[in-house]
Amino acid sequence: MKGEILRAPFFHTPENPFHGQDGLAASEDGGLLIRNGRIADSGEFLEVLARNPGVPTVDMRGGFLLPGFVDTHTHFPQLRVLGSLGRSLLDWLEECALPEEARMAGIAYAASVARQFVDSLLRHGTTTAMVFGAHFPAATAALFEAAESAGLRMTAGLVLSDRCLRPDLHADAETAYRESTALIRRFHQRGRLLYAVTPRFALSASEAILEVCQTLRREHADLRFQTHLNESPAEIAQVRKRFPWASDYFGIYQRFDLCGAGAVMAHDVHPCDAELEQLAATGTTVAHCPSSNAALGSGIFPMARHLRARVPFALGTDVGGGIGFGMLKEALQAYLMQRVAPEGEMLDGARLLYLATKAGAKALQLEEETGDLAPGKSADLVYLRPRPATPLAAVLETAQTPQRILEALFTLADAGSVQEVRLAGSVVFRNASPG
Ligand code: GUN
Ligand code: ZN
Repeated sequence: MKGEILRAPFFHTPENPFHGQDGLAASEDGGLLIRNGRIADSGEFLEVLARNPGVPTVDMRGGFLLPGFVDTHTHFPQLRVLGSLGRSLLDWLEECALPEEARMAGIAYAASVARQFVDSLLRHGTTTAMVFGAHFPAATAALFEAAESAGLRMTAGLVLSDRCLRPDLHADAETAYRESTALIRRFHQRGRLLYAVTPRFALSASEAILEVCQTLRREHADLRFQTHLNESPAEIAQVRKRFPWASDYFGIYQRFDLCGAGAVMAHDVHPCDAELEQLAATGTTVAHCPSSNAALGSGIFPMARHLRARVPFALGTDVGGGIGFGMLKEALQAYLMQRVAPEGEMLDGARLLYLATKAGAKALQLEEETGDLAPGKSADLVYLRPRPATPLAAVLETAQTPQRILEALFTLADAGSVQEVRLAGSVVFRNASPG
C-alpha cells in the first residue's frame, strides 16, 4: 500500500523540553507519510516526496499538524456537571458530581452520556485518554463500547469506593473484585482499550478495597492504575484521620503497591517532600489539572518542586471539576497559573505541547505507540486550522517562528480550530463547517 503524504507544517516534542534544550521539533513545510495507520516517514515535504515518489499528497497547508492530545485525567459521568462553579472539592462532590454519577445506574442514560463524552474528546483533538468510568459496571462497559466504536485510544476502569460517598455508589470488596475482573477480561487490551484499576480516592476506600486493587494488579498483566492524591487541604485532613498508620497520603497507596509505571495520581497540589521523593522513586506520574485546581479552589500545583524532585507529570482536564475538554485550554491554564505562582515555572510552547502529548503517552505507557510524530508511531493527529477573520488567523499571518506559532495556537485556538482528527491514520472527526 502506497499510503499518502500529508503536507502541512507540523510540531512535536520527541525529546523532553524540561531537560536541557528546547525540545521542539518543527517542520515549516512538513510532510508526513501515513501508511497502514502509521507514520512511515516524516520531515520536510520535498524530501519526504523525493524518498517516496508517486505517493499521493494531501495538501493541508493553511493549518498545522500536531500529535493527537493525551488527556491523562477525566471523568465520563461528570460531563453534565461541567460549569458547577462556586464550591470546594468535598462540597462539589456531594452536591454536584455524586448525584450525577448516581444517575449512571440507568444504562440508557449512561450510554448516551458515554457517547457524548467520547465524541467531545475527539472533537477537541484528544486521541488518547485515561478516564474514570462509573461506579456501575454496565455504565463503565458502555464507556468502553463508545470508545471502541469511535476509535478512541482509551484507558479506563470501574470506579471503586466502599465508604464516605452515597450508599448507592458503594460496592463491597467482593463485589468490586468480581465486577472489575469481569470488565478486565472483557476490555483490557481489546484493540485500543486498556483497563485501569480505579479506586476513587483513599477517603472513599477501605483497606479491603485497596487490597482488592492490589490483587487485581497482581492477577492481570499490564493493568494501569488511576486515583486522586493530595488535592485539597480539607480532603487531606480527612484522609489523615482515616489512615492514622500512614505517614502521608501517597504512603497509603504505596502500602498496597498502587504506584509505579502506569500509575497516574491526579492533582498532587499539596505534597510533602517525602511524597515527592517516593513518587519519583517509584516512577509514578502525576496528572496535573490546572483548571480544576482553580475552579475548585484546590490550590496552585507546585510544578517547580515536582521538576526538582523529578516526578513525571502530564496534563488532565478533569471533566467535570475542570472547565471542559480542550487540552489547548488546559495547557494555557497551566501556563497562566505558573505565571502567578510565587515560585512558578516558565512554560513555553514546546513545554506546553510536551505536557499535552508525549508526557501523557509516557504516563500511560503508550509512548511506543503515540505522543509524537516520529516514524513508526501510530498516525494519531490533530489538524488545527484558524477560522477566517479570527484573532488567531490574524496573528498567524505574521507569526514567524515555530515557537511563536505554537504559542499563538495554545493561546487562541479552540475547539472550532480543530479541523480534523485522525486515529491510526483514519479520520475520526472532521469539522463539517471548515474555516
Ligand atoms: N476526588 C475524588 N473524586 C473526585 C472527583 O470526582 N473529582 C476531583 N477533582 N477530585 C476527586
Ligand atoms: Zn478527578
